[in-house]
Amino acid sequence: METGKKSALNQKGIVVWLFGLSGAGKTTISDLLKEKLESNGFFTVSLDGDVLREGLNKDLLFSEADRQENIRRAAEVAKMMLKNNIVTICSFITPLNKNRAMAADIIGEGYFEVFVECPLSLCIKRDVKGLYQKAKANQILNFTGISASFETPENSSFIISTADDTAIESMEKIYSKIHPLISL
Ligand code: ADX
Repeated sequence: METGKKSALNQKGIVVWLFGLSGAGKTTISDLLKEKLESNGFFTVSLDGDVLREGLNKDLLFSEADRQENIRRAAEVAKMMLKNNIVTICSFITPLNKNRAMAADIIGEGYFEVFVECPLSLCIKRDVKGLYQKAKANQILNFTGISASFETPENSSFIISTADDTAIESMEKIYSKIHPLISL
């Protein structure tokens, strides 16, 4: 007989942490993944850098210290979600190894890191939000990849390549990897 406490959610929690350059496709993949998870009955929440920076983190800019604080707060929120068995998708540039190490440390078991890989040259070419052009013209300072660093991960985090795969293919790769981890 099952002795565990009853839960409203028929799932295990996870924190899928998507990181990579601005324009790499994090938000697009996150939206597709959320849709797929929900249509398969998984309760999912997404936390996105652009969105959090409009509210919870609106006091923060893009210095190294502010980015670390941005990630710390997001990771703490994600940890609470995880404790409540929620599937949480986080999309943040998370540019430095120390940012990722902190997120992993705060969240602990259940942290699933995904590098959304895309060459800087392609992000610049896409320039969906027109921010790279502004950064190159010095209208935006500390811009990741232009005037602030992005450290390519050295360790073996799960990698998807949005230069090689479509957004749907990338999403499917993540979905098949996490599905066994969130199913009861
Ligand atoms: S992080 O570095 O702290 O992880 P986060 O993911 O929250 O960044 O926010 C990145 C988003 O903020 C970008 O997608 C872009 O829309 C916007 N942005 C505005 N200024 C900058 C900047 N200087 N560097 C990077 N992104 C910026």
